Amino acid sequence: MINFAAITIFPEMFDAITQYGVSARAFQLEKAGLMTINPRQFATNRYQTIDDRPFGGGPGMVMMYDPLQKAITEAKKRLNKPAKVVYLSPQGKPLTQNLVKEFACEDALILLCGRYEGIDERLIERHVDEEVSIGDYVLSGGELPAMTLIDSIVRLLPGVLNDQASAVEDSFYDGLLDCPHYTRPATHVDAGDVPAVLLSGDHQKIQQWRHQQKLKRTFLRRKELIECLCLSNEDKQYLEQLAQDEKQ
Ligand code: ADE
Repeated sequence: MINFAAITIFPEMFDAITQYGVSARAFQLEKAGLMTINPRQFATNRYQTIDDRPFGGGPGMVMMYDPLQKAITEAKKRLNKPAKVVYLSPQGKPLTQNLVKEFACEDALILLCGRYEGIDERLIERHVDEEVSIGDYVLSGGELPAMTLIDSIVRLLPGVLNDQASAVEDSFYDGLLDCPHYTRPATHVDAGDVPAVLLSGDHQKIQQWRHQQKLKRTFLRRKELIECLCLSNEDKQYLEQLAQDEKQ
């Protein structure tokens, strides 16, 4: 069981992962738990202010140290087991499937969701263990990135996906993009035919075809991913052939 504590001023947003689909299943089966902590409860004025203007000037507001620090302390107390504090921000380490696998081994994670222009840097220095980005673009807050991280973790937990949708078959599990998928009808007036090999019943041939499709897609769409892989001689030959075809 992995426990998440999300520190957020918009706790209702997290219904998106606790109420729908595979991620909801993880929470129902108690493979994962989620609590939310609103830093506004630690604000000290009657307007429940948790942000202030940035020193040095400039646009926007910055989330203050104290309410966030108190929210982290509360999260640690309530989780009652060692938990890394992860701050979601575009300045963080890029989230990859390998990083997801590492996080999936943790007992608990505290996910700090920023809003406005960001949070007081002193909080990051003193209380954040990892800063993680979900991509080189800017969102309005850390909630969607935190939910992205939770979803990607919980689907890896044993018993969450059923056999048919095993995580081992996912894109990136073996460092490759996924192969194309087809379902009935095998022949369609507008869409054409399904690749014949998939109807052959030859399991070994199908496996080989799928593997080569994965290699091909990764080569054509994301060449930089190929460099990180340990390839068999057969794979290398296949890729050389693709490279030659590309030149012609
Ligand atoms: N907060 C805003 N944009 C983000 C991003 N790309 N990744 C993580 N957290 C964010």
